Amino acid sequence: MKVSIIGQGYVGLTISAHASRVHEVIGFDLNKKVVSDLNQGISHIEGVLSSDLKEAIENGTYRATLDPSEIATSDIVVIAVPTPLDDVRKPDLTYIDSACKVIADNVTGPILIINESTSFPGTIRNYIKPAIEKYSKVKFDHLYAISPERVDPGRKDFNQKNTPRLYAGLTTEATAKTREFYSTFCDNLIEVSSPEVAEAAKLFENTFRQVNIALVNELAQISHALGIDVRETLEAAATKPYGFMKFSPSAGVGGHCIPVDPSYLADVAEKVGIEATFIKRANEVNLDMPKYIARRIEKDNSGSLKGKKILVVGVAYKPNVADTRETPAELLIDALNDLGAVITWSDPVVGNWHGSDSSPLAGADIAVVVTKHDVVASEDILKSAPYVFDTTGKVKGAVQL
Ligand SMILES: NC(=O)c1ccc[n+]([C@@H]2O[C@H](COP(=O)([O-])OP(=O)(O)OC[C@H]3O[C@@H](n4cnc5c(N)ncnc54)[C@H](O)[C@@H]3O)[C@@H](O)[C@H]2O)c1
Repeated sequence: MKVSIIGQGYVGLTISAHASRVHEVIGFDLNKKVVSDLNQGISHIEGVLSSDLKEAIENGTYRATLDPSEIATSDIVVIAVPTPLDDVRKPDLTYIDSACKVIADNVTGPILIINESTSFPGTIRNYIKPAIEKYSKVKFDHLYAISPERVDPGRKDFNQKNTPRLYAGLTTEATAKTREFYSTFCDNLIEVSSPEVAEAAKLFENTFRQVNIALVNELAQISHALGIDVRETLEAAATKPYGFMKFSPSAGVGGHCIPVDPSYLADVAEKVGIEATFIKRANEVNLDMPKYIARRIEKDNSGSLKGKKILVVGVAYKPNVADTRETPAELLIDALNDLGAVITWSDPVVGNWHGSDSSPLAGADIAVVVTKHDVVASEDILKSAPYVFDTTGKVKGAVQL
């Protein structure tokens, strides 16, 4: 089959890499550098090997393009574009809308359209299908389906092949064709009764994480006030063999999913007259963690951070990836700046962030570890400043969250 994948980021490129082992894949993206690099076999995504990309290019089964007309004769188009929040933290479907326009303007016959971008229940039925129909000059009877992506970039044990995949079409035929497509490169397919169930399940998976992370972050604050070690408490609770799942405290949540997706659920809930109180409170707690950490550090340092040189260690949102989207390091830097500190950051995996390069691990009055990559040694972090505050629980000998 000819499969076009709109968006060649974390999700789109990952699917492209797997699908191109079986199908002819066109990876359409608007980013010139991404497309140019991909066509030279250079992957910008953890988990997609440049060598695999090169092999697919050589076999003629993968090509990236900036030209939307190349999707024309596709059998299947997969949408994998960002679904962020806008300035007031409401769902922003601008990218989905532009992908719908690309499809409407370029496909030349009836095809299967699958959305892998994360969005609220009803997106494929009430938003994507009507948008494509509205933009299409020639009307085709397309099939529509949803299969939310669960990829966890940087993860080694679960990948596109062995991660169970939910799917559902708007019609029985769409469901069957979606199954046929994914079964060529995924081992475990789970059909659900409607696209809305698949869309809601994806949002709930990430909401579950967001709420539990907030809960454990609140416990970290309670424990500190009580003089109890929160991580020891969690280890102790985790010895219960049933009914408990351990989450770890941190500087907050980051990435394109956990801080964002729950607000999609909260928004759709509000539209049907239900207030998603847990999601709102979890957002507040997680977004407040950087301020809490800054206040703790201030208290430990004679009550003032004015003019203190603070090194933020690890600005990626999680270990061993270069992704800085929604990183809590950003809010922590703001909070420390507000208290008068002079901030630098160090992250060899990220390298360059907001136009500046990673600083060496040295010469600070205070170091704060937000993310601990495997390539950064704890001993080097401990040597970088006389006072080191660790939000990760991985730097033994530092002051712990
Ligand atoms: N990153 C993850 O770990 C992850 C996991 C599961 C689901 N998701 C979801 O998948 C979707 C995509 O996320 P991502 O992390 O891959 O984003 P990303 O930012 O890594 O990649 C998106 C790509 O889409 C391109 N793009 C935007 N609009 C386009 C258009 N109209 N036409 C063509 N290309 C366009 C961008 O240039 C970018 O390269 C989101 O809905 C996200 O919530 C992400």
